[in-house]
Amino acid sequence: MSLKMPETVLLGTGYEVPEKILTNHDLEKMVDTNDQWIQERTGIKERRIASSDLTTSELCTRAARKALQDANLQPEDIDLILIGTVTGDALFPSTACYVQEKLGACNAAAMDLQAACAGFLYVSTVADAFIISGKAKVVLAIGGEILSRIVDWNDRSTCVLFGDGAGAAIWGAANDSGKGIIDTYMKSDGRLTELLCSYGGGTNYPMQEAIEKNVQFIQMQGQEVFKSAVRAMSEAVLTILKKNDLTGDDIDVLIPHQANIRIMNATVRKTKIDENKVYVNVDRFGNTSAASIPIALAEARQSGAIKAGQLVLLVSFGGGFTWGSLLLQL
Ligand code: UT7
Repeated sequence: MSLKMPETVLLGTGYEVPEKILTNHDLEKMVDTNDQWIQERTGIKERRIASSDLTTSELCTRAARKALQDANLQPEDIDLILIGTVTGDALFPSTACYVQEKLGACNAAAMDLQAACAGFLYVSTVADAFIISGKAKVVLAIGGEILSRIVDWNDRSTCVLFGDGAGAAIWGAANDSGKGIIDTYMKSDGRLTELLCSYGGGTNYPMQEAIEKNVQFIQMQGQEVFKSAVRAMSEAVLTILKKNDLTGDDIDVLIPHQANIRIMNATVRKTKIDENKVYVNVDRFGNTSAASIPIALAEARQSGAIKAGQLVLLVSFGGGFTWGSLLLQL
């Protein structure tokens, strides 16, 4: 197996989730649902919910501080802060600007990028491009969400799925160690926007109008999204493997977007990756959208579930639709 020499290396990771745990049994008291249905259909047992005084930027900042510590770097070392989120603190300024201020990252440019659940793969791909081009040496890439604020807590078909949290990665210019980002792949299909969306506060539906028309919350056509997610994530896995002359057997660990255990299982079946290689934490955190992959990546590194020398494949899918994959030599 001969892989491309990476130009971008993973220097550190960190994640932060709110303390409050909302279990399936708690949800049974809120809507007409039950633990068995949720576990069988999604694999979720519990999720974290932010208290009302917690902001997305605060979750992101806490995750970033842990990633900086892991990388043994200071805030002033960061050249660029990129945040994937659909639940930023405000329409503008960007959540990245709030994080820049909280960290004291005085040398960093800062911006948000919106690719829903694929947000972290998108920001990491942009980080890789900035580093390859020489425009940045150290990039802080974050996925952070407080989805509980845009969920309709009366809609059982969506409110049981989502959770809050943030995950951060520090990407830096690689030496010739062979470690780092081998390849990335990004796609979109804007024909299917209405299958998974939240209109509140956008220019199509300014907030007051959105509330009047009751379109301010996450809306999802679950079954259609499910089918698209399996199709797109399988395509993203197979494409990046083929581009790099690899098969599923060469991958040590697959970290898929943590939306639903059945989507993950169907994706590994279609791509012929051993299901024992799949990292899963959807049972504890639910679907945290852009935060899902970086939380899983940071948690897996911290627990030793992934280690130096392993080839790790990240794959995600989200509203838009957007999807992608990233091949990482640890
Ligand atoms: O982050 C990326 C995007 N999101 C996703 O990837 C999510 C993709 N979709 C899914 O994961 C699944 O479609 C869901 C988990 C959302 C739903 O599972 P499903 O197997 O597709 O269920 P369904 O929507 O076909 O609903 C089956 C039944 C319906 O009842 P009837 O019509 O058969 O009587 C629903 O009303 O389950 C009912 N139902 C529930 N029952 C108990 C829907 N939600 C619930 C619930 N508790 N929370």
